[in-house]
Amino acid sequence: MVSAALSVLSFVAATTAEFTVVSHVSTAPRSIVPAVIPPAEFVVPITGKSPRRQTKKDALSALRSHASKNNTAVLAGADLDQEYLTDITIGGQTFTAIVDTGSSDTWLIKKGFNCFNLSSFPEPQATCGFGSDGFDTKASTTFQEFPNVSFNISYGDGEFLSGPVGFDTVSVGGLTVTKQEVGTPDFAAWNGDGVNSGLLGLAYSTITSVYNTTDPTKASSANHIPYDPFFVTAFKQGVVTNPYFSIALDRGALFVNTSTDPNLGYLAFGGMPPVALDKTAVTVPIQKYSAKTGDPSSAAGAEYIYYTIDVESYVFPGSTSVATANNNTIVDSGTTLNYVPDKVAKAYNAKFVPKATLDSDSGLYFVNCNATAPAFSVTLAGKSFPVDARDQILDAGTDDSGNVLCISGTQPGGADTAGTVFILGDVFLHNVVGTFNVQTNELTVTRRTKY
Ligand SMILES: *[C@@H]1O[C@H](CO)[C@@H](O)[C@H](O)[C@H]1NC(C)=O
Ligand SMILES: *[C@@H]1O[C@H](CO)[C@@H](O)[C@H](O)[C@H]1NC(C)=O
Ligand SMILES: *[C@@H]1O[C@H](CO)[C@@H](O)[C@H](O)[C@H]1NC(C)=O
Ligand SMILES: *[C@@H]1O[C@H](CO)[C@@H](O)[C@H](O)[C@H]1NC(C)=O
Ligand SMILES: *[C@@H]1O[C@H](CO)[C@@H](O)[C@H](O)[C@H]1NC(C)=O
Ligand SMILES: *[C@@H]1O[C@H](CO)[C@@H](O)[C@H](O)[C@H]1NC(C)=O
Ligand SMILES: *[C@@H]1O[C@H](CO)[C@@H](O)[C@H](O)[C@H]1NC(C)=O
Ligand SMILES: *[C@@H]1O[C@H](CO)[C@@H](O)[C@H](O)[C@H]1NC(C)=O
Repeated sequence: MVSAALSVLSFVAATTAEFTVVSHVSTAPRSIVPAVIPPAEFVVPITGKSPRRQTKKDALSALRSHASKNNTAVLAGADLDQEYLTDITIGGQTFTAIVDTGSSDTWLIKKGFNCFNLSSFPEPQATCGFGSDGFDTKASTTFQEFPNVSFNISYGDGEFLSGPVGFDTVSVGGLTVTKQEVGTPDFAAWNGDGVNSGLLGLAYSTITSVYNTTDPTKASSANHIPYDPFFVTAFKQGVVTNPYFSIALDRGALFVNTSTDPNLGYLAFGGMPPVALDKTAVTVPIQKYSAKTGDPSSAAGAEYIYYTIDVESYVFPGSTSVATANNNTIVDSGTTLNYVPDKVAKAYNAKFVPKATLDSDSGLYFVNCNATAPAFSVTLAGKSFPVDARDQILDAGTDDSGNVLCISGTQPGGADTAGTVFILGDVFLHNVVGTFNVQTNELTVTRRTKY
């Protein structure tokens, strides 16, 4: 759901003047021992996954093209990307929602919504593929409308959601906030998965989607009204003591009965999830973005948008032959694969035995499912975070002749130029706990023990 930023980037461009300097917050590391971060106050298991929607892939791709100007690489294989799901209770009603560190709104489809196809022709509700009838705002005794504003998100391929906005009691994993601003779209052109009914966004308020107009078509930078996302509200209300949340994503049985695996990890508020940890951890600053260029920046006017960090290096056999440091890497629970600089992906994928080959149609490295994956680790501010070989070969379904296909977990993300957005996705996140601090704007990465 990184798409929301597209409008924000143009929005801020109109309001802020800034030089196109790529300058970074120093990555002076703060080595910490895991014990410094206490066990979480609230933990919710991640119990399901659903295929990531094509539109999100398109949106990410568009963002990356926007950033790198000439990047045409396909972001992900068709059926590979999965989104992690959890339960969210709003106004006493419980829904399945996507957990997303790449967007910021909390929204639930509103009961009685109108469904459209992508050319805005009315369709039966079922066509939109939500996992429920929707949030019944009238049945909630705590729901309050936010008059004269609207929620509006639209995606590159024509998908859109719009509708009223309100405030209600929202609970996730026992963490309950009151008067959380939520989108309750009642117009939807959506290719849903039949499982989720909304989204829990955990990124920054800059990419929330509420506008000071009742007419969604008039939504613009000029009338954008950013608001506190769920976890920020929780911290401000004092219902969680510490200003951070953690995500542990288990590799699980990734492509076997994916929507029913009960053990896919945890979302934890205020501390660490209940997984076994190694002693290696590091805390690095989140990088801001230039409002004007969309490039990472710490110049005046730069804003936090995503959980973006600098990678000191990728280490693998042969890694000394290429420059492996890169800036502007988003840590995104909503992306399955790692997207690293093209040259890094090329050098790494050449080291599989047998070596992975780049498929020009998809832009992805395919690999023999029985290949041996080379060692691979991500260095963040001097600390090494190995990625398990089991995360580097992913089942990619079958070809037309029924042959089983696999792809590499580490794929090309574009040239290593200032504007390219790289991603450390679930392939990386399976091996660590990411702790996102919304007050200090830092990410702590802690190694998990092998599992
Ligand atoms: C990352 O940003 C720093 C600070 O602006 C810069 O010195 C460095 O060259 C950048 N690295 C890459 C690979 O772009
Ligand atoms: C894309 O960027 C790369 C690296 O900056 C450059 O070599 C290449 O010519 C560009 N391609 C196009 C089509 O502009
Ligand atoms: C939407 O429905 C209309 C009317 O049935 C149809 O003409 C149009 O092709 C459909 N658009 C899409 C994108 O499916
Ligand atoms: C909403 O808009 C209407 C019509 O412009 C106005 O009468 C009303 O006072 C507004 N309500 C709020 C809460 O701003
Ligand atoms: C609001 O939705 C309309 C379609 O309903 C779309 O054309 C417009 O771009 C959207 N605006 C924003 C800021 O998403
Ligand atoms: C919306 O815009 C109106 C008119 O400019 C203004 O009076 C009102 O305070 C704004 N509402 C919000 C919530 O910002
Ligand atoms: C997956 O689910 C189906 C249907 O529920 C079941 O028959 C099958 O045994 C499951 N496979 C695995 C590997 O659990
Ligand atoms: C992988 O190994 C298994 C068992 O050794 C074999 O059946 C299968 O065909 C191999 N797959 C590929 C893609 O080589």
